[in-house]
Amino acid sequence: MLSSDFTALFGQAPEIISEAPGRVNLIGEHVDYCDGFVMPFAISDRTYAAINRRSDRKIRIASAQRPGEIIETSLDQISPDKAGDWERYILGVIWAFGDRITTGLDILVDGRVALGAGLSSSAALECSIAIALNQLFAADLSLPDLARLAQRSENDYVGMPCGIMDQSVSLMAQAGSALLLDCRDLSTEQIPFDLASSGLELLIIDTRAHHALVDGGYAERRASCESAAAKLGIKALRDCSVSQLESSRGKLTELEYMRAEHVVNDIARVHQCVAHLKRSDFKSVGEILTQSHASLRDLFEISCPELDLAVATALANKSLGGRMIGGGFGGSAIALFKVADIDQAKVAISAAFNSAGFTEPRFFTSLPSSGAGLISH
Ligand code: GLA
Repeated sequence: MLSSDFTALFGQAPEIISEAPGRVNLIGEHVDYCDGFVMPFAISDRTYAAINRRSDRKIRIASAQRPGEIIETSLDQISPDKAGDWERYILGVIWAFGDRITTGLDILVDGRVALGAGLSSSAALECSIAIALNQLFAADLSLPDLARLAQRSENDYVGMPCGIMDQSVSLMAQAGSALLLDCRDLSTEQIPFDLASSGLELLIIDTRAHHALVDGGYAERRASCESAAAKLGIKALRDCSVSQLESSRGKLTELEYMRAEHVVNDIARVHQCVAHLKRSDFKSVGEILTQSHASLRDLFEISCPELDLAVATALANKSLGGRMIGGGFGGSAIALFKVADIDQAKVAISAAFNSAGFTEPRFFTSLPSSGAGLISH
């Protein structure tokens, strides 16, 4: 499909087609930019990119989600100062490759990761482009290098100060496993994550809420964590234990302390969760998720009424545990269930949203899927 659409649009078959997934973060939230540990997995929904090199320096970009629109620019005009829309995620990656990109490009993308649901559609888009350009221009970058490149494009070109989690998991995930990622050195361990054989499923609840705080709120949380680390005299909050934090309480403002308390404890929860998963102790995994939600709500203050209602209703309907995921202030929550209990819980969550006057939520589920790859080249 993508190949024939590309040919119809640009008059030639694509040289390469790539794909990169969105993600769900199981545990370790707002700790990636504190050099912490996170454990996301890739979902089956992905973004596809078809690309051709051109003989001139023109860049043409189209999207299956924007029929009839072709955005045109030139390799020499790509600059972070330029205004734009969704295509900035693509141009940012081209920009981040710098002079490794030596020709113009025709690009058609098909983004199948739900937008605005907190499932990292932006990282999926960036990584689908990054992995294709790496191959087309023989840049020979490793997956961690590509993750850093895609993060840099989002930080410095798009202007979103995100951490490294979403790009890393989109590139390095493996089917059947969650990815334990050390966000300081990008070393990884694949942690088998097999819910089905225990009769369980992870429900993803897209609250469809998107509160205005999203961008400013994210940057503000990141800044608090960085100022807390500076006052504690450490490189990042990852270098602080729970007891060290307690004994240094006086050095931080009350707000910095709350933020740091969340981060330090959520990093500890990642390690606990790994141990529980290795023993297939899903009851304890569920408890960890619920603890993380309380911390994100009360200490990090990035939840919202829709996310709290989704989690509370899941818990009241036999969920083993659940929490909000991603940047916060909207997007999705996850909740762990026995398969047999899911349908009733969905009905209850929809009904609770309806009574509260919230938009009808959307439900997904996904097995842990593979990371980015080349489909044809
Ligand atoms: C967003 C960012 C990530 C990470 C999460 C919170 O998804 O892109 O880098 O900080 O929020 O864990």
